[in-house]
Amino acid sequence: MGKSGFGVEEQLAECRKRFAELFDRYWLDDLPRLSPEKPDEGCCSSNPEHAGKIMLDKTSTPAFDEAKLQEFMGKLVGDAGAAATAPLVVLGDRLGLYKALAASEGLTSDQLADATGTHERYVREWLAAQAAAGYITYDAAEERYGLTPEQALAFADEDSPVFFVGSFEILCSNVIDSPKIEQAFRTGAGVGWHEHDQMLFCGCERFFRSGYVAHLVADWLPALDGMVERMEQGASVADVGCGHGASTIIMAEAFPNSTFIGFDYHAESIEHARAAAEKAGVADRVRFEVASAQHFPGEGFDLVTIFDALHDMGDPAGAARQIRQALKPDGTLMIVEPLAGDRLEDNLNPVGRLYYASSTMICTPASLAQEVGLGLGAQAGERRLREVLESAGFTQVRRATETPFNMVLEVRP
Ligand SMILES: C[S@@+](CC[C@H](N)C(=O)[O-])C[C@H]1O[C@@H](n2cnc3c(N)ncnc32)[C@H](O)[C@@H]1O
Repeated sequence: MGKSGFGVEEQLAECRKRFAELFDRYWLDDLPRLSPEKPDEGCCSSNPEHAGKIMLDKTSTPAFDEAKLQEFMGKLVGDAGAAATAPLVVLGDRLGLYKALAASEGLTSDQLADATGTHERYVREWLAAQAAAGYITYDAAEERYGLTPEQALAFADEDSPVFFVGSFEILCSNVIDSPKIEQAFRTGAGVGWHEHDQMLFCGCERFFRSGYVAHLVADWLPALDGMVERMEQGASVADVGCGHGASTIIMAEAFPNSTFIGFDYHAESIEHARAAAEKAGVADRVRFEVASAQHFPGEGFDLVTIFDALHDMGDPAGAARQIRQALKPDGTLMIVEPLAGDRLEDNLNPVGRLYYASSTMICTPASLAQEVGLGLGAQAGERRLREVLESAGFTQVRRATETPFNMVLEVRP
């Protein structure tokens, strides 16, 4: 039993039972009546341009397996509920609701509204939705809400390795930007990284930062041959496609004798990165410059890094060629890319699901918006990445390490 007085497993079991009853009572009865005589029209049709052109035969209901249909509808109800929760997570973050809950022993809706300067009626509804999602706890006897330590790590602690709010910000930006992507599907044109809603840039920084905080200094750099010693002594490092500079700043904090320069073609991100470096107190050893990966200036780097950005580039081979000539002969390129197998069927899992969705909405359109427009996609897999790197003249590519979300490649001339 959870703190709510009604454990999550019991809630889920009750929910499944109730869903099965409703399913039998309503949907099964309705299915034989699904035979409209004319196609949908107007803005509520799934595709107004095609209405009347692509017709489904709705004159008879195809044979189906009731149990499988029920199971599938159950999955869709769960998925739709999760998707509907995305903007609520962003609200909870922005309004400080999660942080106030985390700092308490449990609060009523009145107390939470008072603590955050918000209106109780809105807060009460938000709390109900969050409790139904299993994202917060509810003590029915006391009418108090709270966070378990695990929920607090995911929603209230920015520095935790499992802070997950950024992922929901990315989901929200995808919804906002979907008309642009819909149009791109029709025209084949790209949608540049810079053309997305603001929420993508912060969401991306916050989503990836958790992984960098957890792994970059502790696991990834030590997995590169001799790199930690070099950085301790004083190395010259370029972080290409650095975005808001989270990875650059984390490295600069850990290696005060080294110098770092972050490049990104997105001027707004570079401005943000500069401010973040000032705030972190590392501006003496970190610079950020607007430059594309294919044309960034400088040479003699000991280490060049690309964090979750190679597949967003239109010309990743061109970027790799530029990096190769900017590295010292014994320098290293570290590539952090989303974890993926080489075949689609290897990636049909929850992580692949998240990445393919982001890739459709963000990464592939970003690549198609640039010169060459290779469109690697966020689940390219190591074999495809290796081909790109070898085409740029690199001869050694090694998977140095991996996490549930990322693979880390050590690439050398
Ligand atoms: C998914 S974000 C990752 C940002 C950052 N590395 C991080 O891990 O938080 C991809 C970044 O690649 C940048 N980018 C895309 N194409 C680029 C190019 N051709 N040259 C430089 N930066 C590029 C985008 O502006 C964006 O900041």
